[in-house]
Order: sequence, then structure tokens, then C-alpha cells
Amino acid sequence: MWVGRKSGFLTRITDNWLRPSPADLKRAVGVEFQKLKSHVEAKLEEKRLEIEASEQVPASAKDRIDLSLPGVIRPIGSHHLVRTVMQEIEDIFFSIGFSVVEGPEIETPYYNFEALNIPEHHPVRDDMDTFYLDLPKSAPGPLLLRTHTSPVQIRTMEKRRPPVRVIVPGKVYRRDNPDATHSFVFHQIEGLAVDTDITFCDFTGTIEYFVKQFFGESVKTRFRPSYFPFTEPSVEFDVSCIFCGGSGTGASGATCGKCKGSGWIELFGAGMVDPAVYGFVNYDAKKVSGFAFGMGMDRLAMLKYGIDDIQVFFQNDVRFLKQFP
Ligand code: FA5
Repeated sequence: MWVGRKSGFLTRITDNWLRPSPADLKRAVGVEFQKLKSHVEAKLEEKRLEIEASEQVPASAKDRIDLSLPGVIRPIGSHHLVRTVMQEIEDIFFSIGFSVVEGPEIETPYYNFEALNIPEHHPVRDDMDTFYLDLPKSAPGPLLLRTHTSPVQIRTMEKRRPPVRVIVPGKVYRRDNPDATHSFVFHQIEGLAVDTDITFCDFTGTIEYFVKQFFGESVKTRFRPSYFPFTEPSVEFDVSCIFCGGSGTGASGATCGKCKGSGWIELFGAGMVDPAVYGFVNYDAKKVSGFAFGMGMDRLAMLKYGIDDIQVFFQNDVRFLKQFP
């Protein structure tokens, strides 16, 4: 790597710096180059002697070790884009007093559904088509891959008394058909704030602060009435589709495939925590109030970085990963 005749560092320095250097500097550069060359040669000799003296290298191999051969340069990895976006989101929420908690990806139906006010046979369970674990008959009860990060709301409130202000990043799983905006494994970031005097205004203010910090001031947003059994009232939050500029049609006039012609992309569900949920964690619903939200992190990353297919996050194609060092 250093002393190779064709492309070793010393040859490259000679060709690229020493020879083309201006006449008045050539001498000074040459002196520095000689110092470097002597240093490299001395180091190589030192290493050669070390190997010769070493008892770990068999005698037969000693004269076959060529220290001038190029070494292995290992490529340096970088964070996955979803990880980077997770960090960006966490930093925004840290700045307004939230902390991070985590929870298990394998859950019980109690935490994933029941304690969130989703009893058995509730139709909402159909929207979250669930992967159940294949367990022996002797197992104490069914287990599933969590379909959202909301179970960590319950786990957190079980352990802490208000005030609670947490975000929960993590992987979730659903039997959804893969397409440009759906994957069967994806990332959510849950938020939960509970205290004695939290209002709907605190909720909308927090969400709008986050969105402006994350996307910039110019993004168009809207709240839509929605329904989640664990929030009341509930909303869904959309941002204007960056792929068609919110028009719903692509360049050729065809319906935009990303927002399916609506001009909006759904980012998350949210709302004020339903008082029924407090009953599951022994909070006094008359004394506390709060809000919760669950964002699709992959969709946030897609919108911010102009990625038009969620599947690229899971394919580990180095050509994609390298674009986000
Ligand atoms: C929920 O998962 C609720 N737990 C969110 C919530 C939390 C509501 C707290 C109220 C209070 P939903 O099923 O809409 O809601 O999913 C939330 C977000 O996850 C969606 O808005 C979307 O951005 C993302 N998402 C949902 N399904 C997929 C999927 N298959 N692939 C990628 N992202 C998805």
C-alpha cells in the first residue's frame, strides 16, 4: 500500500505532488518526502524484525510475508436512513422535554389490544392484521408481533405516575400487502404526554411544532377526524404529497400513485387519551388528561428525503444506502 511501485502512496506522492511542485518549493517538498519515506521504511523494517522474532509465525512462513502488499481497506458503514430520521425526530422531542422509552416487539394481546380499549372481536383488530406466534399448546397464552408501538403507552403508565412525557421508537409488524407505502415490517414512533392539565391545544401545538421543525415551515398539513379506541377525540394527520405537489396527478396527467390521487399522505394517528385507558393503569381519569400519537417513521423519511418506495428501506441495497452517508 505504501511502497508499491505502481500505485503505492509514496509513488503517488512523487507523481502527484513532488514532480509537479513549483521549482522554488521542490527542494523543501523533496526534503519532507525523504523524511516520510525513511519513516515508512523504518516502520516496515521494524515490523519485519518483529515478525522474524515472533514465535507465533511458523518459520516456514516468515520469508513469505510481504509487508509491501496492499492491506485490506474496510469500507466504513453509516447509519441507515431510518435510523438517521429516528435520531432527528428524537432530537426534536428531546428539545421539548420528552424522553425515550422502549418496549418488546413480541407482545401479549392484553398490551397490544385489550388494555388499549380494543376488546376481542373489536373491528379495529381487522385493520391491524396480526402475526401470531406459533406456540406449543402448553404455552400460557397467545403471543403476537406488536402491530403498533401503542402497547408501550400501557407499559410506561403502569410503571410511572404522571407527569409522563415519552416517545417510543421501534419496529412493528402487520400482515399488510407490500406496496410503495406499505410494508409488513415498518417503524413507528409513539408519543405520550399525560399530566393533570393537558389540553387539545397542547396536543395540536406539539404536533405542529414537531412537523415544522422536521419538514420546514412550508409544508401543508391537515388534521382529519378519525377513530382509535384508545383516544377520544381521535385524528389523523396528513401532509401534502411531495411527489405530485399535492395535486393528486403526476407529470403525465395520470393519478399520482403515491397518494392515490388524494394529494395527501397520511402520516399518523393521534388524539387525547381515552379515559377508559387510564382505568387499565390505575390512573384517576378525573384528575389526569393527555395526548398520544403514533407516526409512521418510514413514511416521514420518504417524504423528507423524496423516496418513492418504502421497500428500499428493507432491501439493504448498498447503492441506496450509500446515498445517505
Ligand atoms: C396506529 O398504529 C395507532 N397505534 C396510532 C395511534 C397512536 C393513534 C396513539 C392514536 C394514539 P395506524 O394504524 O393508522 O395507527 O398507523 C400509524 C401510522 O403508521 C400510519 O399513519 C402510517 O404512517 C404508518 N403505517 C401504517 N401501516 C403501515 C404499513 N403497512 N407500512 C408503513 N407504514 C404504515
